[in-house]
Amino acid sequence: MRKKVVAGNWKMNTLPAEGKALAIEVAEKAALVPEDVQLIIAPPFTHLCGVQKAVGETRVCVAAQNCADKVSGAYTGEISAAMLEALGLKYCILGHSERRQYYAETDARLVDKVALCLERGISPIFCVGENLEEREAGKHFDVVGEQVKNVLFTLTPEQMANVIIAYEPVWAIGTGKTATAEQAQEIHAFIRSVVAEKFGELAEEITILYGGSCKPSNAKELFACPDIDGGLIGGAALKADDFIAIAQSY
Ligand code: PGA
Repeated sequence: MRKKVVAGNWKMNTLPAEGKALAIEVAEKAALVPEDVQLIIAPPFTHLCGVQKAVGETRVCVAAQNCADKVSGAYTGEISAAMLEALGLKYCILGHSERRQYYAETDARLVDKVALCLERGISPIFCVGENLEEREAGKHFDVVGEQVKNVLFTLTPEQMANVIIAYEPVWAIGTGKTATAEQAQEIHAFIRSVVAEKFGELAEEITILYGGSCKPSNAKELFACPDIDGGLIGGAALKADDFIAIAQSY
């Protein structure tokens, strides 16, 4: 059985006190979500400590939204995987399209980030996805396949077993335009087949999330697809009720 995950990516939203309140509300309402769904919230770095304390021993796990591609040293403004581990974090979003697009995140850098997180016992939530131009040109399988191969094919099977993949078509992020369940299922199955090229049967165990305008009204249909194991939620994760309603869609 693959792990089901619903993760909230708060991006650069909320101030620390609001973030703490949102985390507490999510933790309080978590009992409404089926027990086999892992709930994760990813607040900004400045709230990690407070949110981690606020959710305490509840079933809600806290993730970072990024980490450095270096171990430590003179890298002003960066946060290392060891620092995230010291806070007790178990997950870190890596390779989000906004980081690839606005902060020149390359596959080469992601190879290092993924490895450093795994060394610290942190599971990467590794994001892939094509932009609109690539989708319209019919290149989405090639683009997503390369993103998966360039980074995840550098891992050992033991490392790969701790990775979560998130497919997020760039044209669906924050646009209100969701991939149809058919489009999402098609590419999720493709991603699994690419993972299987290198890792064989392990591909069946890998959790693959859908992200991009996922909301309470469409989550059920998406999560019903055989290769969709949950969601990476942006805008809708900023309201505890919506986030919980999405997680209840299993
Ligand atoms: P969205 O963002 O749900 O607001 O489209 C998803 C994401 O970027 O992770």
